[in-house]
Amino acid sequence: MNQNEMKQAAAEAALAFVPDDCIVGVGTGSTANYFIDALPRIQARIQGAVASSEASAERLKKLGIPVYDLNAVDRIPVYVDGADEINHYLQMIKGGGGALTREKIVAEVAEQFICVADESKLVSVLGKFPLPVEVIPMARSLVARKLVLLGGRPVLREGFVTDNGNLILDVHGLSIAEASKLEGEINQMVGVVTNGLFARRRADVLLLGTAAGVKEMR
Ligand code: 5RP
Repeated sequence: MNQNEMKQAAAEAALAFVPDDCIVGVGTGSTANYFIDALPRIQARIQGAVASSEASAERLKKLGIPVYDLNAVDRIPVYVDGADEINHYLQMIKGGGGALTREKIVAEVAEQFICVADESKLVSVLGKFPLPVEVIPMARSLVARKLVLLGGRPVLREGFVTDNGNLILDVHGLSIAEASKLEGEINQMVGVVTNGLFARRRADVLLLGTAAGVKEMR
């Protein structure tokens, strides 16, 4: 199996976690896209979806899946999304696609977070993948200076604006031993909308696509 086949196998395995009659939370990225593309198979038994990005909402609508505003939804039993890195505690770095804030919001509402990923995403220490931080545009330099004090090398994601009209700083060079602590520290910085560490709301289940098939980790 190549990397895309592993992503697809993991994403399709997540269908079995979606309960009947629910509104399902849907993430963003190439692995989440495989999940979206498989959703028509269970369309008759779900009400619809809440999307974590405009791109995912568009893809869902094209397939005829009703897309709900999060504010109109009481509960999301399951949220399915990919990750840029995930450790053995199921803490993640997300936001490679720039949708981290909406992903974190939908994940916070969800009762269960199912992470779908290929085996290259499983790491022992988070931080090789640059940590995305969404910032209010006027605070870009202020936040960048504070991230340098934390030992990181922030790089502005050129030519990219989030769905919320903000910028992304990708922070290189962090070796993240205490993910939950760092997540809180960065989120405390004035001008930060959120950062891509998902440690306080980690995944509940990891469906990992491997050469030997899909492994389930909790
Ligand atoms: C988007 C994300 C994605 O889940 C993450 O970037 C993984 O993407 P892919 O499934 O394409 O490898 O956090 O903001």
